[in-house]
Amino acid sequence: MTIPRHPTPIILDGDPGLDDAVAWMLALASPAEVQVLGVCSVHGNVPLERTSHNAGVILALAGEAGHQVPHYAGADRPLVREAVTAAAVHGDSGLPAAELPAPLREPETLHAAEYMIQTIRARPGEITLIATGPLTNVALAFRLAPDLPAKVREVVWMGGSTAHGNRTPAAEFNALADPHAAHVVLTSGAQVRMVGLNLTMQSIATPDRVAALHALGNRAGAVCAELLTFYAGHYRARYGLNGGALHDPVAVAAVIRPDLFTFRPMRVEVDTQDGLNFGRTVCDLYGKPGPEERVRVGMDMDDPAFFALLLERVARLP
Ligand code: RIB
Ligand code: CA
Repeated sequence: MTIPRHPTPIILDGDPGLDDAVAWMLALASPAEVQVLGVCSVHGNVPLERTSHNAGVILALAGEAGHQVPHYAGADRPLVREAVTAAAVHGDSGLPAAELPAPLREPETLHAAEYMIQTIRARPGEITLIATGPLTNVALAFRLAPDLPAKVREVVWMGGSTAHGNRTPAAEFNALADPHAAHVVLTSGAQVRMVGLNLTMQSIATPDRVAALHALGNRAGAVCAELLTFYAGHYRARYGLNGGALHDPVAVAAVIRPDLFTFRPMRVEVDTQDGLNFGRTVCDLYGKPGPEERVRVGMDMDDPAFFALLLERVARLP
């Protein structure tokens, strides 16, 4: 008899964003594994005003699963560097789909970082933060509340890479969009799992997969298919790939089904110096991490099983 696991309480923090939207729908459709306590928006793919609006839209898309979930807006710019966006990849709206519902509600007045502090302090050791954008909100929370890194269960971050970047040859977008925040979080002493490009580029939304999402016949499947079709154009043009990489949904799946992934403890440093490697996550692949190492880096995944999970969960939404 399998002992029923209690769902892991999570906070979603991201910059929706096409793949953030698919990731958040995956989380909201998985109540047996994760309980979404709240969602937080941050600057990134598009400005905060849009990511905040889009967060409300995603909660509406999730139907019943999104009705009770509060939404908090966070940082509208990085800690130090100037803001950058990825509108070329995600469209100016950040959610380029024709038929979208209105946001379920306006964001709460509390800042996302304050929400993280209050919520994690109330349940020390229990809550997982899944960050799928620049880490500005998380870094602000950790700086405002130095006790927080020890009280968060773990931070699972889609960001960085053990090898190539995407926004630059050296840097992945979420790391480049706020390298100083990534440095703060990766050196905070919190347990961190880094879901980098070296892992997420193993999972591509091919035309067959997009067709399978559309064939679900529900609104969530149709919206995911439309978003991923738009997304594919950039990946085909830039990388010659047959679809867009499912970056952010992979990070959520790493919490729902950790058995589908392998992670390795590894020293990771973020280059915050201006220049060719600005925003690069420098991963010590062959070093011998000490027992105190708290960063683990995703290396491999069972991509077919991951996509089967994503399809089965999106099918549950309206
Ligand atoms: O580099 C990919 C990441 O940057 C994803 O989280 C995507 O949404 C963008 O934020
Ligand atoms: Ca994102």
